[in-house]
Parts: sequence; structure tokens; C-alpha cells
Amino acid sequence: MSHAIKFFLNGQKHEASVRPDMTVLDWLRNAPRLTGTKEGCAEGDCGACSVLIGDPAGDSVHYHAANSCILAMGQIDGRSLITVEGLKTETLHPVQVAMAENGSSQCGFCTPGIVISLAGLAANNAAADDHAIHDALAGNLCRCTGYRPIVEAARKVVGAGGAAIAGPHIAAFAEMKPQTTLSSGGSIYHQPSTLAELVQLRKDRPDALLLGGGTDLGVALADYHSDWDEVISLAHVAELRAIGESDNHLSFGAAVTWEEVLARVAEFYPSFATLIRRFGSTQIRSMGTIGGNIGTASPIGDGPPALIALGADVELASLNGRRFVALEDFFLDYRKTELRADEVIASVSIPKPKPEQEFRVYKISKRYDQDISTVCGAFSITREDGQVRSARIAFGGMAAIPRRAVEAEHALVGSQFDAKAVEACAAAITASFKPLSDWRGTSDYRLQVAGNLVERFWRDVAGETVEVMAL
Ligand SMILES: Cc1cc2nc3c(=O)[nH]c(=O)nc-3n(C[C@H](O)[C@H](O)[C@H](O)COP(=O)(O)OP(=O)(O)OC[C@H]3O[C@@H](n4cnc5c(N)ncnc54)[C@H](O)[C@@H]3O)c2cc1C
Ligand code: FES
Ligand code: FES
Repeated sequence: MSHAIKFFLNGQKHEASVRPDMTVLDWLRNAPRLTGTKEGCAEGDCGACSVLIGDPAGDSVHYHAANSCILAMGQIDGRSLITVEGLKTETLHPVQVAMAENGSSQCGFCTPGIVISLAGLAANNAAADDHAIHDALAGNLCRCTGYRPIVEAARKVVGAGGAAIAGPHIAAFAEMKPQTTLSSGGSIYHQPSTLAELVQLRKDRPDALLLGGGTDLGVALADYHSDWDEVISLAHVAELRAIGESDNHLSFGAAVTWEEVLARVAEFYPSFATLIRRFGSTQIRSMGTIGGNIGTASPIGDGPPALIALGADVELASLNGRRFVALEDFFLDYRKTELRADEVIASVSIPKPKPEQEFRVYKISKRYDQDISTVCGAFSITREDGQVRSARIAFGGMAAIPRRAVEAEHALVGSQFDAKAVEACAAAITASFKPLSDWRGTSDYRLQVAGNLVERFWRDVAGETVEVMAL
């Protein structure tokens, strides 16, 4: 039996009887022929395909931009989808007016995506500053106009108090809940709503794909036209969407997005927040989840080094119960993890800062925004009377897995965190890693960078450096 996908399209109720693994971009351009949404890179990088996705949040609807090229149709079931055509009501959207008046478009290919990203910003953040504008645009590539006229147009709208999205009223969502199962054309898409349902499905359907935000899996879907014949979506599992806090810990359900993690960790670990702001783009952070970043087990994922240095644990759940594993022990070998076939990552728990703890994480990549790390180094120390009591250091991009640098930590513990200790720590890093050479950086480069980051951490803690961010 076929179960159509139900959602709001530009404010109107809509049903689509298509395979849930068809990309939203393909559907938009081929079925309703809403061709304002463009295809550029087809892998989440350029923003030409940006659309707005809306979900109920309290008594209003919250919108964020997403890349429709890596978004599956199943992922919009029960939600509001706004394309560039839907921004215009009787008049143009204020972002469209500002872009036109400001000469912010030349060939126009990127313009629908840029308008969508700025409309998302204007809907959420009436008091946005240049940093927020920069963040909103980091996932949108413009090759010919240049960003100055685009940023100037953005300032006019956000400076004038923002602008709401003309989507469905919150009350309309009462009849638009995500459905338990979607199916069409031989593809089945399960949407459990509790952890108990999820682990049962995981047991019963061992070959089904576990889908978080799909920002990793969606690239294969779009690039290699892979088929998802059976999917278990994590997006509506209440326990996996929860954010908790106790006296000593913060906890994030595995399906919490990076944008939501950012909002919560900024107060406790500002350096982690700076890293997360450089994680993909607003579109990627609004869909990609903390559990997916761990589940994908990439050696160059940005979350794991920071989380390992902070001493995070992952909670793994199955029908047999739950177990907790230190994140540093979760990664076994290249893309091999502790996760058993019947388990899911349920949550991640991060200790809150201790007195006199210093934490910094550094992402070294070729571009500031929207780039993959060549090396990511995370450093955490606690001190008493100037002496280092404990140290945790972890790197991404230096081995087949995100790895803790235990030997380097020993060089700091007991020291006064002085130049000699920093030199010994850097030497221990060089001696204990054998990174690969690839097109992002040679093995020697990676070793040198990782060693240099110890000095940067030392100087940061001493207050000698400033965070550089280009606009
Ligand atoms: C343009 C672009 C930019 C990116 N930039 C960055 C970046 O700067 N830094 C970075 O680290 N990554 C980046 N990524 C990669 C990706 O966004 C992240 O890894 C993200 O956190 C993945 O989360 P997801 O929910 O989208 O994962 P998905 O694609 O849904 O899943 C990824 C893998 O994890 C598994 N999985 C998901 N959730 C669970 C769970 N709860 N339990 C068990 N397994 C699970 C899935 O089965 C799959 O194998 C980028 C990706 C793109 C396309
Ligand atoms: S087409 Fe480039 S991000 Fe989707
Ligand atoms: S206007 Fe041509 S790519 Fe932006």
C-alpha cells in the first residue's frame, strides 16, 4: 500500500505520491515545476537549491534554510516547505526588494538561494548583525556579483526589523503530523516517535538505513543516485530530540541539530560554539545532527575531537537496554565503531566546565567557512595554583579515527604550562601520530600544524591572541 507524503507547499496543503528517497530538488523542478530552486553542485555546498523548512515551535512556526539537493522527500512529511516562488505574496518579499534595489544580482543563478537564506535570517533574527548575515550567507556561493551588494541588501532588511514568512498558520499543523510510515515505488520510510519504537524497528529491520539529518547520506543520494529502499528516520523520536541539563552535564539527544547544539553550548564553551559556526553552513547545521556526526565516524568530522577533549560519553540503546561508552573508545578503526547492529546512538553527554578549566578547539582548513578540516585540534586543561592538574587533547585529521593524544597530555600534566611544557607537548604529538598525506595536506604539514596548535592554545590561554573572522 502506498502512503503519500503530506506537507505544506508554499502555504497550501499538498500530497506527493513519490518514493520518499527522491530528492526535494528533483521533485520541485520536475513535478510542480517550481524551477526557481536551482541545481548547482548537488552536494550541499553552493546553496543554489536552498528552500525554507518550517516546523511548529511553541505558538509559532520556525523556519530554517536547507539544501533541497540532499534532502529526501520523506524528510518534509508533516512540515512546511517554502520555495523562492512562495516568498512573494501580493508584493515581493522585502529581501527580494532590497536585492533588486541594491543591484545584488548579475547572472542571477545564485539569487533564489541567497534570497531564501536571507529570508530565513529575516524571519528569525530581526536584530541580526553583520556576523549573523555572514553566517546566513556562508552556504551560498555567488560567483559573479560579489558579496558586498548582497550584504548591503541584507542589512537593509534586518535593519528594518526583519520579515515574516507567508506560510501556514501554526493552527494548521494540528492536522499535519508526521506519519508513522511512508511508502511508494518500493521505498519504505519509517518515522518512529519514541525510542522504544525505534529500537524495535532497529532489531526487526537490520538492513534499513538510519537517517539523522541526511547531510552525509544525502550527498550519496544526490551524487551517486543511491536508492534508499528502507529508511528509519530519527527526526521525530522524542528522546533523540531532547536537550537536558544536570548539575554537572549537558546532554543532547542524537537527533539534535548542530544549530541547536550551538545555541546551548555557547554559554559553557565559547570556543566550541566558534567551531560549530564553521561547521558547514546554516543549511547544513540546521539539518545535520550531533549523532550523525558521530555515527558517520569520519576521521575528519569536527564534533568528535572537541567532544573527546571535553570527556563526552555516548549513550547506545537497543532492545536490551542502554550502555554508556566514552566517545574516545567509540571509534575502533577507520569507519568502524562500537555500535552493534541492533543499537542506535541515543544521546551525547558533555561535562560542564570545571573551575579553572581552559578549553579551545581549532579547525584548520583551506577556507574559513564551508570547508572540511585538514586538522582539528581540541585542548582542555584544568589548573590549580598555575599547575596543570589534568589535560585532554584530541585531534581529527591525524589518524584513521578521531584520536586522543595521551602522550602529549602527559607532557602538560604537572607542569606550570610554560614554554618548556608546550615544546614537550608538541614533540609528543609529532612522535605519536603518523597522519596520511592527501590533497588537503601532507603528513608533514599536518604534524607541524598539530604541534603549532599547542602553542596557539598556550598563547590563547595567556590572552595573547584574538579570533580572526573575515567578513
Ligand atoms: C556541504 C557539507 C558541509 C559539511 N561540513 C561539515 C563540517 O564542517 N564538519 C563536519 O564535521 N561535518 C561536515 N559535514 C558532514 C555532515 O554534515 C555531518 O557529519 C553531520 O553531523 C551528519 O549528521 P546527519 O544527521 O546529517 O547524518 P546522516 O547523514 O543522517 O547520517 C550519517 C551516518 O550516521 C548514521 N547515524 C545517524 N544518526 C545515527 C544514530 N543516532 N545512531 C547511529 N547511527 C546514526 C547514519 O546511519 C549514517 O551512517 C558536511 C556535509 C556537507 C554536505
Ligand atoms: S545544488 Fe549546491 S547546495 Fe544544493
Ligand atoms: S549573480 Fe551570478 S552567481 Fe551570483
